[in-house]
Amino acid sequence: MKIKALKGFKDILPGEVELWQILENTARTVFEQYNFHEIRVPVLEETALFQRAIGDTTDIVEKEMYTFVDKKQTLRPEGTASVLRSVIENGLLVQKPVQRLFTIGPMFRHERPQKGRLRQFHQLDIEVLGSKSPLLDTELISLAAMLFSELGIHVSLELNSLGCPKCRPAYREALLAFINERKDKLCSDCQRRSETNPLRVLDCKVPADRELMADAPSIQEWLCEECGDHFNAVQQGLERLGIPFRLNKFMVRGLDYYCRTTFEFITSDLGAQAAVAAGGRYDGLAELLGGPAGTPGIGFAMGMERIILLMQQSEKDFQESVEPLDIYIAGLGDKGQKEASRLAWELRQDGFSVGLDYEGRSLKAQMKLANRENASFVFIIGDEELATGKGVLRNMRDRDAEQMELELKAEAFYFLDDLL
Ligand code: HAM
Repeated sequence: MKIKALKGFKDILPGEVELWQILENTARTVFEQYNFHEIRVPVLEETALFQRAIGDTTDIVEKEMYTFVDKKQTLRPEGTASVLRSVIENGLLVQKPVQRLFTIGPMFRHERPQKGRLRQFHQLDIEVLGSKSPLLDTELISLAAMLFSELGIHVSLELNSLGCPKCRPAYREALLAFINERKDKLCSDCQRRSETNPLRVLDCKVPADRELMADAPSIQEWLCEECGDHFNAVQQGLERLGIPFRLNKFMVRGLDYYCRTTFEFITSDLGAQAAVAAGGRYDGLAELLGGPAGTPGIGFAMGMERIILLMQQSEKDFQESVEPLDIYIAGLGDKGQKEASRLAWELRQDGFSVGLDYEGRSLKAQMKLANRENASFVFIIGDEELATGKGVLRNMRDRDAEQMELELKAEAFYFLDDLL
């Protein structure tokens, strides 16, 4: 019996992986422009970390975690909790009071797989610890907007504030009163949520529930003075940068650690999986995880699979940014192949990318391979070349270009540097 990949786990094959590399490289450039530093954290953590950070009654913790029950360890379903654990454990805030970090890697959630939703998926994750300035909220949103624009992807920004432990309880009561008036008409999930986590009723996807909740009180009207000022400052900051946004009182996010600003970049091009990036403030989380009290935090994560789907649909031609192979050396016959492998060694030491084939294929077959490898130049080494010590370099990009006779040594290829 053939063994197949697990449901919801996907190979990223050559041909597609180039797009991932472009995404990663573009992201790294933007992260650098924004003065972010990379952090790499393990994929396996103590289960308690996610229970405490994300919240016991969230879908992620209740239903979606891959947990080794006997070991009390869990494959990370997201990056924020792990990054915070690491920042606290390694005392990074003592070294530098504001930490601007990014991490890139796989996350694991046992969800029902569909287009744009996997069980192993990848995030570009940004986290900042140590500043509560609303200018930082604006800056992070602008970073995401810039990355999307670099990638030629069109998304829209939705914004909300979830208040703080001072103002949220009163809002929660008002919301609960509203929910209770129509509780028996809501779906069974929402009836349960109304008792455990009533804010989550707001982002139920069932159309009838959405209709019932349309006039629910908005948290934006219940914010305390500090939260209200902060939220206004974030909006003014976005206006100053010319970044359009829409206020969405229904956006409450599926993780419990958020307070104040929350945001999502959404698209209508991916069916049900609308959120391409999402995040917000989590000012109380560091303390909850045993870090210094009063350490504010904010971050967001971008779903890489979803971005790749959008890049595939984008009008931008990413093929142009895929690096071609510099030189393909076609060695003919036993001696030709040996000489090809020697010359390839020299050329690679000089920094060229070189392709070879050892299967004794005909010249025609090797020219086909060179084409498939997208080689810029082909150099043939057969009996004649071995006898004269010279070969012809063919330009594969410009077939009309003059063919050049070169000696079979790397120095002869130096001029290529300017052409590649
Ligand atoms: P999240 O909303 O759970 O937030 O996930 C962020 C993004 O990851 C989503 O908007 C989506 O693009 C992608 N994503 C989530 N689940 C899947 C899946 N099953 N398949 C494919 N893509 C998925 C967080 O994870 C927070 N840690 C974000 C954050 C960072 N907040 C503060 N800092």
